[in-house]
Amino acid sequence: MIDLSQGTPVDPTPQAIQIALQSASNAPGYPLTTGSEELRGAIKKYCRDILGAQGDFDVLPTIGSKELVASLAYLLQRSKVFIPKIAYPTYKVGALLAHAQITEVDINPQSWPASDEKTLIWVNTPSNPTGYVHTIEEMEAALAKRASGALLVSDECYFSFPDRKNPISFLSAAQGDFTRLITVHSLSKRSNIAGYRSAFIAGDPELIGELLQLRKHAGEIMPAPIQRATVTALADEEHVRQQAERYRVRRSRAIPALIKAGFKIEHSQAGLYIWCSNGLSDWEQVSWFSERGIIVTPGSFYGEQGAKNIRIAMTATDQNITKFIERIS
Ligand SMILES: Cc1ncc(COP(=O)(O)O)c(C=O)c1O
Repeated sequence: MIDLSQGTPVDPTPQAIQIALQSASNAPGYPLTTGSEELRGAIKKYCRDILGAQGDFDVLPTIGSKELVASLAYLLQRSKVFIPKIAYPTYKVGALLAHAQITEVDINPQSWPASDEKTLIWVNTPSNPTGYVHTIEEMEAALAKRASGALLVSDECYFSFPDRKNPISFLSAAQGDFTRLITVHSLSKRSNIAGYRSAFIAGDPELIGELLQLRKHAGEIMPAPIQRATVTALADEEHVRQQAERYRVRRSRAIPALIKAGFKIEHSQAGLYIWCSNGLSDWEQVSWFSERGIIVTPGSFYGEQGAKNIRIAMTATDQNITKFIERIS
């Protein structure tokens, strides 16, 4: 079987990051919850230089971003959570853990119901599973929803992989006003270190200060060797460009073969995934692929609206992408 059902990187961790991890393995003391000075500096520099943040924002390293996504509504005690209709399942799990009321919303913020200071709104650009990239107009409309007191949280863990569209970070779209805005970034895919569990949040200094106080006592401190490896990873964009190119080439090879096999490609503008459909139910499509020795993900895993789609991850070796193309042809 060729497994294209999981967004788990298969390309190697860059050597320099592995060496940084090894070189920091003597770590007898507790690491700082807020991150070492060099890590905080590296994250802030990355936010300014690569994500386009201007003005006064704060940052906090986290153990992966899934852990943060799952606990955020609970930690910040938000009792209403908006999630995209087709979305990464952990947004819903996090809302359930917080016993919050869940509202599934469209991408367009104009259609969202009224929000208030108890509301946490999740956006995800580029999206898992669809690869949709928010337009600047959609981002500005989402940012405007903060006027109700709502907290806007943007999960941008696929930011590093542009394709037909270049993602913009909410840190840049906010134009220096980070009030009730948190962005979530992960190095899992960016630097092929999903096994290290390295991520961070950046945005509203007041909210991040509140989270820091909680995490000092609740734990979830990023381990010191991972902090060191993260500094090295954030200082280099060349390995990120190479990885983005690998995914772009894999997608550009897989898409024509899928179209020839009768699939319609939807969104898939950036990130890791191809979101497509041949018009049958998601499980019928999953069966079609499984008969050819390929595992893909049924779209209904991401919400009812995905029930006619499948998600195909580009996290396979180039050889396996070649086999995938041969088998569906
Ligand atoms: C949209 C989205 N957010 C967050 C994550 C979590 O990534 P990690 O916990 O490795 O940082 C994933 C992982 O697949 C994801 O797809």
